[in-house]
Amino acid sequence: MVIDGVADPTARVRIPLATINRHGLIAGATGTGKTKTLQGIAEQLSAAGVPVVMADVKGDLSGLSKAGDPSEKMKARAVETGDDSWTPAGMPVEFLSLGTDGIGIPVRATITSFGPILLSKVLGLNETQESTLGLIFHWADTQGLALLDLKDLRSVIAHLTSAEGKADLKGIGGVSSATAGVILRALVNLEADGGDTFFGEPELETEDLLRVVGGAGVITLFELGAQAARPAMFSTFLMWVLADLFQTLPEEGDLDKPKLVFIFDEAHLLFADASKAFLQQVEQTVKLIRSKGVGVFFCTQLPTDIPNSVLSQLGARVQHALRAFTPDDQKALNKTVRTYPKTEHYDLEKALTSLGIGEAIVTVLSEKGAPTPVAWTKIRPPRSLMDTIGNDAIKAAASSSPLNQKYGQTIDRESAYEKLTAKVAGAPTADQSLDLPSLPDLPPPPPAEPEGPNIAEQILGNSAVKSFLRSAASTAGREISRNIFGTGSRRKR
Ligand SMILES: Nc1ncnc2c1ncn2[C@@H]1O[C@H](COP(=O)(O)OP(=O)(O)OP(=O)(O)O)[C@@H](O)[C@H]1O
Ligand SMILES: [Mg+2]
Repeated sequence: MVIDGVADPTARVRIPLATINRHGLIAGATGTGKTKTLQGIAEQLSAAGVPVVMADVKGDLSGLSKAGDPSEKMKARAVETGDDSWTPAGMPVEFLSLGTDGIGIPVRATITSFGPILLSKVLGLNETQESTLGLIFHWADTQGLALLDLKDLRSVIAHLTSAEGKADLKGIGGVSSATAGVILRALVNLEADGGDTFFGEPELETEDLLRVVGGAGVITLFELGAQAARPAMFSTFLMWVLADLFQTLPEEGDLDKPKLVFIFDEAHLLFADASKAFLQQVEQTVKLIRSKGVGVFFCTQLPTDIPNSVLSQLGARVQHALRAFTPDDQKALNKTVRTYPKTEHYDLEKALTSLGIGEAIVTVLSEKGAPTPVAWTKIRPPRSLMDTIGNDAIKAAASSSPLNQKYGQTIDRESAYEKLTAKVAGAPTADQSLDLPSLPDLPPPPPAEPEGPNIAEQILGNSAVKSFLRSAASTAGREISRNIFGTGSRRKR
């Protein structure tokens, strides 16, 4: 804690491990120390045996894997902030990339499990188009057409907008061929941006993010690299992982430390231009994932980048310096001040504009769950390297990882694309509706839900799309899809 401009090493400001699942926010203007703060949080969590998942948007977090710079300056800062035993140290890190164009181990997700809401976010669709996409997913589901990769979805939409698919399109109801055409074009653009190597199999198994080696939590870094053109895909993908964890992890009582911590750097990308369904899904996932022992930290420039419904769920606040150059800055500053507990000790508006680099106004939840008074805090220096380790070192680490054997090669199984292509090759008549000969029988309906509302349904609660998303995206729907597609062994849920 900084008192009258001087850090007092005995006055420590800390986040109790047991309240990390009450989530947090790291905010501040550019260059004020946000990334180093989350680097410090990640390495301390790792040291405490907690795995961490985060996006390495600018490449500067790869230094987590390497011991830091043992300079006198760093040591002095460590002593000043009460970290007397500071020694440079690296953490166990896995480097992953979305698809095969990146420098990390390639990971993928199937179109089906990604679902229409998240895919709409990636494609930048409006709400009507999002609904249409949901209907198309549902149709493919009922036809037993597996949507694994982009060409599967593309071929389904191409079929529906073709002369021969006219009857099918009409049968879906509420889907105009113009809207379907817009979605098709958006898909083509996404493919051109490298999305084609990301959607497919083998699908990332979220269990691989929960590893602990030699007592240290593994830090999984998603390298942005080739996806720089589509940063929204990145944050949306992390949301998918979080939603998937929500479905796979058991309920936990109060744990003395979290099972996993998720950090969204550049979180404004997640919320910019988001649909209502998407925002609801984020809000609900963040709210409910807490009881599964998972903590979520958002990192962004302004707290106002985060919707209020999410912001109000973030227990720990680390607010680095804000600027007040423009009237808009001033507005955001006033708003930020209002989100803090009242304090007699600081003029918050003044404090927030005069914090030094690597300093922040901090309030956290105490062990009892009550917000602590705000404290002007100087952040400890990370023990790992405050820089990138470079692309070559990242590539080398990725290729020697055991995960590379599991995810290195793309698998292309028979799915919608192959089935529809085969059908065309078999010279269908123009008015023939789609009847796929070799479809296995429909599985029995899923068991009735236990009492209480279906959580997945709550998450996907947009009333306009709810009914047809139910089968496409809810847990039960995924079961049905997996049984039809014969992918039951793909992943356990
Ligand atoms: N806790 C810290 N210990 C030591 N140095 C720090 C610390 N925090 C910040 N710094 C210094 O400030 C610089 C900028 O910090 P950082 O990269 O974290 O800023 P940022 O807020 O993430 O910026 P951007 O918005 O551009 O991503 C660092 O390179 C480092 O030199
Ligand atoms: Mg940064």
